[in-house]
Amino acid sequence: MAGKERPIKVKIDNVMKTYNSRNGEVIALNGVNLDIKENEFITVVGPSGCGKSTLLNIIAGLEKPTSGTVYCDNNKIIGTGTERGVVFQQYALFPWLTVKGNVEFGLKIQGIKKKEAEELALKYIKMVDLEDFVDHYPKELSGGMKQRVAIARAYAANPSVLLMDEPFGALDAQTRTQLQEELLHTWEKEQKTCFFITHDVDEAIILGQKVVIMSARPGRIKEIVEINIPYPRNQETKITKEFLDAKNYIWSQVYKEYLEVRK
Ligand SMILES: Nc1ncnc2c1ncn2[C@@H]1O[C@H](COP(=O)(O)OP(=O)(O)O)[C@@H](O)[C@H]1O
Ligand SMILES: [Mg+2]
Repeated sequence: MAGKERPIKVKIDNVMKTYNSRNGEVIALNGVNLDIKENEFITVVGPSGCGKSTLLNIIAGLEKPTSGTVYCDNNKIIGTGTERGVVFQQYALFPWLTVKGNVEFGLKIQGIKKKEAEELALKYIKMVDLEDFVDHYPKELSGGMKQRVAIARAYAANPSVLLMDEPFGALDAQTRTQLQEELLHTWEKEQKTCFFITHDVDEAIILGQKVVIMSARPGRIKEIVEINIPYPRNQETKITKEFLDAKNYIWSQVYKEYLEVRK
């Protein structure tokens, strides 16, 4: 990859989004511009309510911008698409399907044959270390395991862009750390374009090649910080000087935005 400029995978061009709520119009996003390059891992931080989920939902095609355009592979996004996979904070698994059934579900919808869907599902269930739980139902799994199923399901559908909205937000610290490492490992192997929202600055730095800091509502991009820490990264990376410098800087910038929200 060195020296070679990567093509733009997702282009966010002057996106604005307003909602009409009971208390009048809410400007959720105001003039957001961002280029996400192929295979890039972008993380997004910013105060609650600054429009992070709105932006992700617009890229996913679940919401439409009020004005502006988002492109994926130079095509205007007008709805959801299999090239863009989404993982939410709440696992959104089908309770009546097993682990295997959940991972296979989207593949069958895509028209992939039963046997192939099964093989693909098993490959990704193994990737997230759940091969002993293929026939279990979501209610029999811990939160971390459910989120692994959601990640396996997203990967199995083979999107080129993964959109993740605080996927580890509901997990305990240890499980979260473990899933961060698994996700990094998978990303290094499978190189997908990742857009990952978190409210955890450590998580943003350990995962991201770039950390996008959003300003308090109406959400705009305040700053993009490049994280030049080499991969593979792991938990020990968190005690390096480069990491701590980035953390101090990003945290101070995000904190200014938190103060704006509290005003
Ligand atoms: N469907 C909706 N209707 C009205 N207001 C909404 C809707 N979705 C989000 N908002 C508002 O838009 C702003 C941005 O929300 P959101 O994108 O969820 O922020 P974040 O994910 O950064 O916490 C918030 O003020 C929120 O209340
Ligand atoms: Mg959100």
